[in-house]
Amino acid sequence: MKAVVYKGPFSVAVEDVPDPEIKHPNDVIVKVTSTCICGSDLHMYEGRTAAEPGIIFGHENMGIIQEVGSAVKERKVGDRVVMPFNVGCGFCKNCQRGYTGFCVTVNPGFAGGAYGYVAMGPWRGGQAEYLQVPFADFNCLPLPAGTENEANYALLADIFPTGYHGAELADVSPGESVAVFGAGPVGLMAAYSCVIRGAAEIYVIDHVKERLDKAGEIGGIPINFDDGDPVQVIRDMRGGDGVDKTIDAVGYQAAARGSSAAGGQQTEVPNIVLNQMIDVINPTGIMGIPGLYVPSDPGGVDENAKRGALTLNFGRLFEKGLSLGTGQCNVKRYNAYLRDLITVGKANPSFVVSHEVPLGDAVDAYDKFDKRVDGYTKVILNP
Ligand SMILES: NC(=O)c1ccc[n+]([C@@H]2O[C@H](COP(=O)([O-])OP(=O)(O)OC[C@H]3O[C@@H](n4cnc5c(N)ncnc54)[C@H](O)[C@@H]3O)[C@@H](O)[C@H]2O)c1
Ligand SMILES: [Zn+2]
Ligand SMILES: [Zn+2]
Repeated sequence: MKAVVYKGPFSVAVEDVPDPEIKHPNDVIVKVTSTCICGSDLHMYEGRTAAEPGIIFGHENMGIIQEVGSAVKERKVGDRVVMPFNVGCGFCKNCQRGYTGFCVTVNPGFAGGAYGYVAMGPWRGGQAEYLQVPFADFNCLPLPAGTENEANYALLADIFPTGYHGAELADVSPGESVAVFGAGPVGLMAAYSCVIRGAAEIYVIDHVKERLDKAGEIGGIPINFDDGDPVQVIRDMRGGDGVDKTIDAVGYQAAARGSSAAGGQQTEVPNIVLNQMIDVINPTGIMGIPGLYVPSDPGGVDENAKRGALTLNFGRLFEKGLSLGTGQCNVKRYNAYLRDLITVGKANPSFVVSHEVPLGDAVDAYDKFDKRVDGYTKVILNP
């Protein structure tokens, strides 16, 4: 089969690889119909992780079940399914409590597994024609048959639940004010989830115009951080007040103000968003941090950043009595509910999707999505 294979920094190829097989009676093989490129893939693509060449990328996968193992109970050949990017077992101490992003069965010696991701276990990615899904009764979320809502449902693998997780970590509640940092797919989904949860004012900070425009379309208040310090801009708009909640949908590759918005040189300041969140939030506020931070970054800006050690204004955080939540999204916790919002027409997350292209166009799609040019906001590959 064809698959997207990582070759080295800024290089992927669509190559022939062996077809996946049922290796355990709990497995199914899914014929992939939609698989998305994620901002998380870009950390590997840019050589900013310990990923070795040869990994098949793809953790946001949806398709039709092609083959079922003998122990699979509920899922059948022909079922239309979407898989959480986390691989979970369903029975370990963390899965049992709903923390499926921290499964201790699927990636021995580590809490958490995923398809096609460095350090996340042996699971091959789904930017390919076929995908092996373990513990299939647990990991396959069934979808209505047919082809309706394909792009909406595909986003249930990661970014819709992950954006929602940001809002959940920050306990965003009706009537609150929120600052969402980052208008990439995760930031836009976080802002959209704040809309769904009834927030009153949702400020969305980025410096990529097309992304800020999308934030405006769903009722967010776009703020371009190249035009001014976003903390000051938000306080000025609020008569000096800060916000109730903040969400970091940027992560460790955060850009400094004034560095090129797209493609070119970005001056990175890995702690800038975290410290701006501490500044702009009101006392007793809660910060949700789905944006990724890593314990090892070969391309880090200095020795501390290379080992994931960042300087935080912890004194201010203490003084304000703030709380924060972070980590991988436990997709399974939200995906059935978010699916049902889509099915009844109350959520349409696919407004973030800018491009749907064949798997064979993955090389070009990675290049453009990485450079954030030509309006590449979210790409779905159709194998
Ligand atoms: N926790 C999880 O389970 C989970 C799941 C998926 C993705 N993620 C992470 O979430 C983050 C966002 O993912 P994405 O797919 O939207 O990525 P993305 O790279 O497409 O989007 C990030 C956005 O942040 C903007 N940005 C950069 N510096 C900024 C700053 N100083 N202030 C405000 N905005 C700034 C960029 O212009 C970009 O639009 C990534 O770190 C990704 O790895 C986490
Ligand atoms: Zn993802
Ligand atoms: Zn588990």
